[in-house]
Amino acid sequence: MNPSMESEYLYTGEHVEGMDLKPESMPCFMTTAFVMDDLTEVGKVYAKKGYTYGRTNNPNRTALAETITMLEGGAATDIFASGMGAITSTLLALVGPGDHIVCNSAIYGETYNVLGEIMPKCSVETTYAPLHDLAAAKAAIRPSTKIIYTEVVSNPTIRIADIDGLAKLAHEAGAILIVDNTFTSPFAIRPLDHGADMVINSLTKFLNGHSDAMGGSLTIKDASLMPKLHHMAMLCGTPGDPFSAWLIERGLRTAALRIPRQIETAAKLAHALEKNPHVELVNHTSLDSHPQRELAKKLLGEDGGSAMLSFIVPEDIKKIDIFMGKLRYARYAPTLGGFRTTMSHPVTSSHPNVPDDVRRAMGITPGLIRISVGIEKAEDLIADFEQALTAFDE
Ligand SMILES: Cc1ncc(COP(=O)(O)O)c(C=O)c1O
Repeated sequence: MNPSMESEYLYTGEHVEGMDLKPESMPCFMTTAFVMDDLTEVGKVYAKKGYTYGRTNNPNRTALAETITMLEGGAATDIFASGMGAITSTLLALVGPGDHIVCNSAIYGETYNVLGEIMPKCSVETTYAPLHDLAAAKAAIRPSTKIIYTEVVSNPTIRIADIDGLAKLAHEAGAILIVDNTFTSPFAIRPLDHGADMVINSLTKFLNGHSDAMGGSLTIKDASLMPKLHHMAMLCGTPGDPFSAWLIERGLRTAALRIPRQIETAAKLAHALEKNPHVELVNHTSLDSHPQRELAKKLLGEDGGSAMLSFIVPEDIKKIDIFMGKLRYARYAPTLGGFRTTMSHPVTSSHPNVPDDVRRAMGITPGLIRISVGIEKAEDLIADFEQALTAFDE
């Protein structure tokens, strides 16, 4: 028997140390601390790094971490209060004065802010390069480079980083590769299998999938680094609360059903939008028109491996508002990865402070709309977009 990841992960992350009861689902340990009977027990619990104080450790975070370690194919995982908690604590743990980071120029806005606002306070410099171009990545590396940092699929223009190539470059330079897998998830790609050293997920998004809890994870290949990474998380106060970990683990149990369907529906919607006369361009990794289609197939499979897409409509804000009003399903919400389809408008949400010419050079125009595809039926979603796009009829 050679069971699949999709079956095995359902049975991972359930064991609670010391418990004789056998609940079918994981209980929630809403406690800030664990009681110890005497100093002998105190000594024993601290010596084995057992459950002591909630910021240090909690069974719900342990269970969730175990499941994500299995899904990402890593050696250990730490759980955080948010994706940003994972990103900030990890970078602070790994770099120090004089160190250098190479980061993809297309990166989540607040990751960019951490590199631009917090890292310089630690005398850490960052160089941005378009990391889908390995020559540009290589040129950005310095002797002091400690980390290459990228997302698999970039927001909102849906470009792909060549994870295998970047891992090779990082290792040749004595650096590590950290990959943010939020837009793709381990059900589409396991970056550690492609040479990455660490993988981050915003659990707030596809992995929880229910838009009701925030969390983040860091999964690493070399478990010996975890004490150092976890220590920084503890000092920063970024480990998440038990209820969020419990909710995320519950949401995660159906991710193997949800995420592949969301990806498949995104591919169908992208193909339909490409045929619509009001749509100037569609960005999705399943399309033959995608400039990195071959890399997308290699890394993410035929259907493109992401339920995120974007498309360009005419630059007429009034008509965009009418279009949004006509949509039954895709509601505007500044998040992604939920069970319902959501949309955002990068020019007014994620990139309002970037000058227009710079934004246009990045492929972000006032007509660009980003979609996170949910679990609605593809036919319903396509019909809804088609009727709403009549807003652009003369
Ligand atoms: C790619 C990516 N990484 C990280 C984050 C941060 O996650 P969180 O909002 O859980 O802190 C986000 C949030 O949208 C994201 O899109």
